[in-house]
Amino acid sequence: MKLLRKRDIPEERYTNAFLGYGPEDSHFVVELTYNYGVESYDIGTGFGHFGIAVDDVAKTVDLIKAKGGTVTREPGPVKGGKSVIAFIEDPDGYKFELIERGPTPEPLCQVMLRVGDLDRAISFYEKAFGMELLRKRDNPEYKYTIAMMGYGPEDKNAVLELTYNYGVKEYDKGNAYAQIAISTDDVYKTAEVIRLNGGQITREPGPLPGINTKITACTDPDGWKTVFVDNIDFLKELEE
Ligand code: CO
Repeated sequence: MKLLRKRDIPEERYTNAFLGYGPEDSHFVVELTYNYGVESYDIGTGFGHFGIAVDDVAKTVDLIKAKGGTVTREPGPVKGGKSVIAFIEDPDGYKFELIERGPTPEPLCQVMLRVGDLDRAISFYEKAFGMELLRKRDNPEYKYTIAMMGYGPEDKNAVLELTYNYGVKEYDKGNAYAQIAISTDDVYKTAEVIRLNGGQITREPGPLPGINTKITACTDPDGWKTVFVDNIDFLKELEE
């Protein structure tokens, strides 16, 4: 990944770094937040992993090991499937799934979150966010079902991977993972649609003090947070 942008907000005592595989106006990126003086966080049990597509998982794992990274699952085919994956952990304990795939415009390709009711979550992301159910796979042998939700095919776009573990209705969300961000042409309309479809608006739509970028934020039926950011305002923010 490349460091795309860094900003320090001393008044609020935090620093952000944005990292990804391409410019923020056309790529999904990771936003890292450092709060002054806070050394560690509880990741909880609900957050799963970020997915990264690479052409050679084994080679990538070797490189990560050489640099002192932690590999929590050695490269190999997924249980009951053919695609080759591996899992690694960053220094803060965030898990990353490496997925073997051909060249893709968006290597940062998944955010996996656990949910307590898969049909409820699918319906929410379809109706409130306008996402499409791209794929659903039940794995009774290991007692879980996953649903891939997104705005375009999995091999070209970042997607949300929702996991339902049989019988688990709730997870501890910890205090580390915060949210995903999605752009929109109209934060006011977005907030209205979210409200109509059972989402909870946690930040009313409107401009952010100081920056003037219009945003709205909500939580899904499981309590996972999403921020919607006005397209044009965001591009202006990037130019500054
Ligand atoms: Co995954």
